[in-house]
Amino acid sequence: MTQVLKLDAQHPQPEAIEQAASIIRGGGLVAFPTETVYGLGGDAMNERAIRRIFEAKGRPSDNPLIVHICDRAMLDLVANNVGAKAEALIAAFWPGPLTLVLKGRPEVAESVSAGLATVAVRMPRSPIALELIRRAERPIAAPSANLSGRPSPTTADHVARDLDERIDMILDGGATNIGIESTVLDMTSEPPVILRPGWITREQLEDAIGRVELAATHEALKRSPGTRHRHYGPRARVVIVENTPAESVKELCEGLLQDGSVGFIGHTRVAIDNPRFSAILLENAADEYARSIYSALRQLDEWGAGVIVVEGISEAGEGAAVMDRLRRAASEAEQ
Ligand code: TXA
Ligand code: MG
Repeated sequence: MTQVLKLDAQHPQPEAIEQAASIIRGGGLVAFPTETVYGLGGDAMNERAIRRIFEAKGRPSDNPLIVHICDRAMLDLVANNVGAKAEALIAAFWPGPLTLVLKGRPEVAESVSAGLATVAVRMPRSPIALELIRRAERPIAAPSANLSGRPSPTTADHVARDLDERIDMILDGGATNIGIESTVLDMTSEPPVILRPGWITREQLEDAIGRVELAATHEALKRSPGTRHRHYGPRARVVIVENTPAESVKELCEGLLQDGSVGFIGHTRVAIDNPRFSAILLENAADEYARSIYSALRQLDEWGAGVIVVEGISEAGEGAAVMDRLRRAASEAEQ
């Protein structure tokens, strides 16, 4: 049975955190909210706990996990040779949605890094996550708490739908506030390389440490195996429209309606009166899209959409990370 505990997101109840922490110490699995998405946590130093994470998610074993820590001292348990640039980023962005790929320590459970010599680490900002790690007294490895290939969960209910009966506990702290996953930055190359865009933008990173690159080459992507797999996807086919006039969006949806039910997520009002058409209207802003997109994709999936048409937003600033996730959701196969 998966136990669900409701917590105050800002001032989590200590007894509940202690219950969850004792599950982690015993090698069990606890899903918890971070500021980005819900994570599925297990003891990062316990190989059996980590294998259970891969099993529960149905995650390919070549896709490494992010280790979550609660203070700077804990970083030294999992990583070596942190270096000046990483320290500058830590000072600027932790706790927060930035994951750093560093040289790993051998004490970290082997499966965490899927055979790589590096370890991905971040210090989350949500009080529930920080308290859980502190009470567990160890780093917690946590991928997003969804079944592999499904959209990341931004509520405890999303987690339960994917992982009920597969994990020991879910800490319900309400909806997460950012809604898409952290930026992953590889600090083992020079200049550092963004392996996965996220809420911390390239511009923000460059303001702190100078030049960073975007992983575009196959060689760089090989270092972040997760980004190769189809990801963040609903069951329905996803079609992206960008810079398209309202009339043409409407025509596209009407055309698709010939073949089945159509969901629409966007900032343009599409007036189609058809029981097989369902629209979710979002504000044309990166924060609103980030916060709502996974939930909207899940909602239209459950409603029974055969196709989901998603209207894009500008790629400036945080919009780049949102569009990255939409493109992955729309890609049919492994890339
Ligand atoms: O916001 C987040 O990052 C959320 C919350 C729960 O913290 N976590 C998350 O984890 O998104 P996950 O497992 O869904 O994505 C981890 C990403 C994958 O793309 C994986 O390939 C990459 O980080 N990664 C993990 N360890 C790595 C390593 N040693 N080298 C390169 N990439 C790594
Ligand atoms: Mg994930």
